[in-house]
Amino acid sequence: MKAGVRYYTKSGNTKKLADAIAKAVGVEADTVDHQLEEDIDILFLGSSVYAAGVDDEVKKFIKEIHVKVGKVVNFSTAALLPSTYKQVSKLVQEHGLNMSEEEFHCRGSFAMMHRGKPDDKDIQHAAIFAKKMIHE
Ligand SMILES: Cc1cc2nc3c(=O)[nH]c(=O)nc-3n(C[C@H](O)[C@H](O)[C@H](O)COP(=O)(O)O)c2cc1C
Repeated sequence: MKAGVRYYTKSGNTKKLADAIAKAVGVEADTVDHQLEEDIDILFLGSSVYAAGVDDEVKKFIKEIHVKVGKVVNFSTAALLPSTYKQVSKLVQEHGLNMSEEEFHCRGSFAMMHRGKPDDKDIQHAAIFAKKMIHE
C-alpha cells in the first residue's frame, strides 16, 4: 500500500494532523505545493475552513493531480464549521478521482477559540484513523 500525505495550513493546526498521519503510515507529509509525482494507493489530503471554504491552493492541487490515486481520504480542522469533506469531495470527484467516505475531522484553534486544538488526543486519534485506513 503506497500512501501520500498532502496538506494546506495557515496557522499550523492541520499540519499537526498531517504529521501524525504521515508518521502513522510511514511517509513524510508535504504541503499542497508539492504535486504528486507517482501513482499512489491512498492520498490523505488535509485542509481547513477559511471564510467558509477551503483555500484556493487546495483546489489547485486537486485540479492538477495527474497520477493515479486509489482513493483520497479527507482530514481537516475548523473552528466552527463541520469538516471540509463536502467541498473537497466535490472537487476530487469532478477531477475523476475516488473519494473515501471516511474522514478525520477535529476542532482547530482560532483566536480565543479551542486553545490547544488539535490536542494530543486528536493527534492520537488521527494516527489510529490513518492506520485503520491503510489496512482496509
Ligand atoms: C482567515 C481565517 C478564516 C477562518 N474562517 C473560518 C470559518 O469561516 N469557519 C470556521 O469554522 N473556521 C474558520 N477559521 C478557523 C480555522 O478553520 C481553524 O483555525 C483551522 O484549524 C485552521 O487550520 P490551519 O491552522 O491548518 O490553517 C478561519 C481561520 C482563519 C485564519
